[in-house]
Amino acid sequence: MKWKQLILPRHLYRTYKLGRLWKNQAKLPWLTMLLRFGRPLPLVRQLGSDRPQARVILHKQGIWSIVAGARFIRYTTKPKSVAKLQKEHVMWRLLREHGLADMVQPSIRLSACGQGVALETGLLRQIGMDDQVEMTVPIMRAFMAAAKLAVPDALPPTVEAGIKLGRQACGGELPASFALESAIRDCFARQVRIGVSHQDLHVYNIMQDAGGKPILIDLKSCDVDRIVSIDILMFAGKYIQARMFDNLLECVFSAQQLGWCVAELEPALALIDLPRTYWSHILILHLMGAGSADTQGSEQEISPISRQLYQRMLSRDWSAGCPERDAET
Ligand SMILES: Nc1ncnc2c1ncn2[C@@H]1O[C@H](COP(=O)(O)OP(=O)(O)OP(=O)(O)O)[C@@H](O)[C@H]1O
Ligand SMILES: [Mg+2]
Repeated sequence: MKWKQLILPRHLYRTYKLGRLWKNQAKLPWLTMLLRFGRPLPLVRQLGSDRPQARVILHKQGIWSIVAGARFIRYTTKPKSVAKLQKEHVMWRLLREHGLADMVQPSIRLSACGQGVALETGLLRQIGMDDQVEMTVPIMRAFMAAAKLAVPDALPPTVEAGIKLGRQACGGELPASFALESAIRDCFARQVRIGVSHQDLHVYNIMQDAGGKPILIDLKSCDVDRIVSIDILMFAGKYIQARMFDNLLECVFSAQQLGWCVAELEPALALIDLPRTYWSHILILHLMGAGSADTQGSEQEISPISRQLYQRMLSRDWSAGCPERDAET
């Protein structure tokens, strides 16, 4: 989780993202023209007779994304980005091996391309914002069905890291106004679905094929032995954020106040096998933990800004909106 997305109000974050998008878009016609002039040569060779119709649609982190007829090709020579494309391919194979072939592209081809690699798939279409729940729920169901039901050995590492950060920020333990640490741990001391998780499930990572079937993309962060519900919670958090002009932490707090009553999200929320009373707590800790790659192990000092942010967030009255909480603890 990027800190900017966590703490910036949504309209500021959107402006920042739009600025970057505009900067990116401005160079695309030039890169397309470069292709027409036969550069970069390995990519031109990869495109073959499709080159005249090829269009660069994205250029990010040294990765060229090109649409050529029904082909979608990504090419890079940058070592970090080569690793990203290789990971995408490895995860695509892994998802297929875990019975999720129907949720991903039928084929992805990874090939050496000059000094770099090319990753080629079929062209997909964006899904409508209003269709995102309907298009994503079948994918969530498939992930749930492919997972096994078991009591986890430990808390999700992100939640564990979030608890440590929370303790550090709030003088040794989580504030009572937030939740007892034992109550959070109890949420995971029961059978839940454990299996493959996408780890970045949101509307822009779901596309559709020519027949309108939802297809999951951006597979590089997938992992095994994860609690699948965390993906659904993240999806729900981002969905709510897209409708509120606020930062993600604030949106998760508001969701708690509403008891997570968001009618259009209910088909997705109904799949979550963690106690509803603690969804926001789990999500906040997960977000804190996921955003703390630099403080993992958390023996390191957290920055004063993060400390203040976490302290303010966790010290609010989290019991409002959870009438059953006392009964559950
Ligand atoms: N098969 C495809 N057909 C058409 N467009 C695609 C296809 N795959 C990806 N795209 C487009 O490229 C965009 C970026 O792809 P992807 O989500 O894999 O990477 P990313 O989100 O940029 O990666 P990162 O997480 O590193 O930011 C998608 O949002 C989509 O617009
Ligand atoms: Mg993506």
